[in-house]
Amino acid sequence: MKRIITRQENFEEKEVNLHEALFSNANGYIGVRGNVEEGVPNGWNTMRGTYINGVYEIIPMKQAESLCNLIEKKQTMLNVADTQTICLIADGDVFDLTTGKIIVNERVLDMEQGVTRRHVIWVSPDGKEIELSVTRMTSFLIPSLFTIEYNVKALNFDGLIEIKSYHIADVKNYSNPDDPRLADDSGALLNVDVVKWREDMSVAVSSTKVSGISVASAVSHRLRLPGKAEISYGKEEGRTLYHVKAEVKQGEELSLIKYSTFSDSVREDDPEEFARETLKEAMRGNLADIYEKQKEYVTEFFDNSEMEIDGDEELGQAVNFNMYQLFQSATRDKHCSIAAKGLSGEGYEGHYFWDTEMYVAPFFILTNPELAKNILQYRYGILDKARENAALLGHKKGALYPWRTITGEECSGYFPSGTAAYHINGAIAYTIVQYYLTTGDIDFMFDQGEEMLLETARLWFDVGNYDRAGHFVINEVTGPDEYTCMTDNNYYTNCCAAYNMSMAVSFAEKHSSSKRVKELLDKLGVTTKELKEIKMAAEKMYLPYDEELGINPQDDSFLQKPVWDLKNTPREEFPLLLHYHPLHLYRYQVCKQADTVLAYFLFEDGQSKEVMKKSFEYYEKITTHDSSLSTCVFSIVASRLGMHKKAVEYFGDSIKLDLLNTHNNSGDGVHTANMGGSYMAIVNGFAGLRITAEGISVDPFLPSGWKKYSFKIRYKKSLLKFTVSKSGAVCEVLEGDKIVVKGVNEMRYGK
Ligand code: BGC
Repeated sequence: MKRIITRQENFEEKEVNLHEALFSNANGYIGVRGNVEEGVPNGWNTMRGTYINGVYEIIPMKQAESLCNLIEKKQTMLNVADTQTICLIADGDVFDLTTGKIIVNERVLDMEQGVTRRHVIWVSPDGKEIELSVTRMTSFLIPSLFTIEYNVKALNFDGLIEIKSYHIADVKNYSNPDDPRLADDSGALLNVDVVKWREDMSVAVSSTKVSGISVASAVSHRLRLPGKAEISYGKEEGRTLYHVKAEVKQGEELSLIKYSTFSDSVREDDPEEFARETLKEAMRGNLADIYEKQKEYVTEFFDNSEMEIDGDEELGQAVNFNMYQLFQSATRDKHCSIAAKGLSGEGYEGHYFWDTEMYVAPFFILTNPELAKNILQYRYGILDKARENAALLGHKKGALYPWRTITGEECSGYFPSGTAAYHINGAIAYTIVQYYLTTGDIDFMFDQGEEMLLETARLWFDVGNYDRAGHFVINEVTGPDEYTCMTDNNYYTNCCAAYNMSMAVSFAEKHSSSKRVKELLDKLGVTTKELKEIKMAAEKMYLPYDEELGINPQDDSFLQKPVWDLKNTPREEFPLLLHYHPLHLYRYQVCKQADTVLAYFLFEDGQSKEVMKKSFEYYEKITTHDSSLSTCVFSIVASRLGMHKKAVEYFGDSIKLDLLNTHNNSGDGVHTANMGGSYMAIVNGFAGLRITAEGISVDPFLPSGWKKYSFKIRYKKSLLKFTVSKSGAVCEVLEGDKIVVKGVNEMRYGK
């Protein structure tokens, strides 16, 4: 299958922002928006940015009333130096796609090579015709490296080509005070400390005022010319300029390679030196070799993660696009995680939410477990902060992970749909268990996993209490549906809590003779009595059920509220969060996203199929899917309930969400949770994959119109390839020993 996405652009303002996100380059460490090198006219909605995962500034978050222990500051991901700006002047005419005439304007995401490309043929207002071919890459092998190969050809003239390549350190973050999903204006967050030329290498170092982080970037060029050129090295306030003037003849091409490297003080003692040295090292070889390695790297990724859909080429491409974006976003170290928008934009300020564990990690657990492990190790690294967060909220024991964060401190300013979403603890716990069941990595459990399970379990025990009927209840929390906040006994949260508590205890009990577990329990001061209490609370967990309707209410008061009239709500009023006061929304039965329905996917043994089906149909009518985390889950649960047509429809809404910009905000960055979710819609939904303590099974169906589909996953020591066709599923064991997979028609061994 071809893994290339090509789009023709008319170059209009409405497309620019979206294409910047869709054609962004990232490698888990740096992310560069797909901005056009020459820039766009003033006033256009553009987010020009380069980001380093986990690099942030701390900014004030004013609370109108300073109630006790409310958060007064937050972290925000930094836009670091701009090394993508290149201006072109063709015989006196400034290259600008809003003037003159566009003959060709094409953007390409080439997932086979791991690069993006731009191809332009443009005629200036004075009739000078040029051809521009640009290839951009953030290297997977040298994570701090970003390259732009910029080729210009004079198509119908002899004359002067001028190229001005900038290294701009005085940049600002994007802001939009009218959209709660973006930062409001906080001014410049980086102080420029150094901008200089060291011979032909431009170096910039900037630092933040509050977080004390410094970032460095280094830029250098390589030029290939038909003849001679005049080159000058300029310096202006906060930026440097590399200026080339070359006489070319018609048909001749000028080629510039711009190498940039980035570094930061979170990871390096001397970021400037690191950026300089990596740049030198990268430039020692030649770019063709780095391209070759990039290709090998992405080929290996797709080999590990392969998913093919036979019968719908476009859908197959969309699946590959989503997987590739996830791969671009995935942290390669333990300093950070995967942000809601990956590294493709500033939406949600580069924060890590529950999205990472609940929606994105499953893809990596199954395909690239070492990347999934980074995500969990990052959570372990902030466990102490989660303990502090719990204490801040008045809990005597345990750890509460922050709703949104970069380094572990809570960064959500509006606690009803932020901090109160305690279910993030459940997402982390669930993922730890899934990682363990899938990989069998028991050392991780002993070293880090069980400690997180126990501390999150303790938190649940502390937040809940027994009611008069002897049920364990959890009050005043917010479930996934953010149109209903601060309620009692959110069905989803209670399921998560019960699972979290019982898993923490069962691991400790199962390995009670292990020295490592004993030491851990000692270290945490967890007694046998405490384990018993936690286990009991899990068993006695209250799960709301309504006899009359035969469904699980989302929470205790949910069914007492009037149902929102979705049919008569004008289209322009969606998403509701941008048009209605939150309190107004909270008083209705209206859901932003899957909540109880998500619980049915994760904890399907908790209810009968009949109850799940009735509930599914109930929530379907009142869910707006205003959150991108929703339709994928409805698809999975529809598959599991045998509603195949619906499952395919919901999947259709999810799979191209960014490519078609159906939520109208993909320009702020791609929706990584949905991307992971649409992957699960195929693997866990259509194919019905389940990995439990009992083993691995599938329960597949073939969507109508598809001839077959296949995907590869890693399970324990095996590499498995599933192919689902009309006649059921075949599982090929490509690596590893004999295993049992329930639900398949046939097992095959060997490549
Ligand atoms: C969703 C949350 C999600 C956040 C970040 C919100 O719109 O309601 O569930 O964590 O976006 O993606």
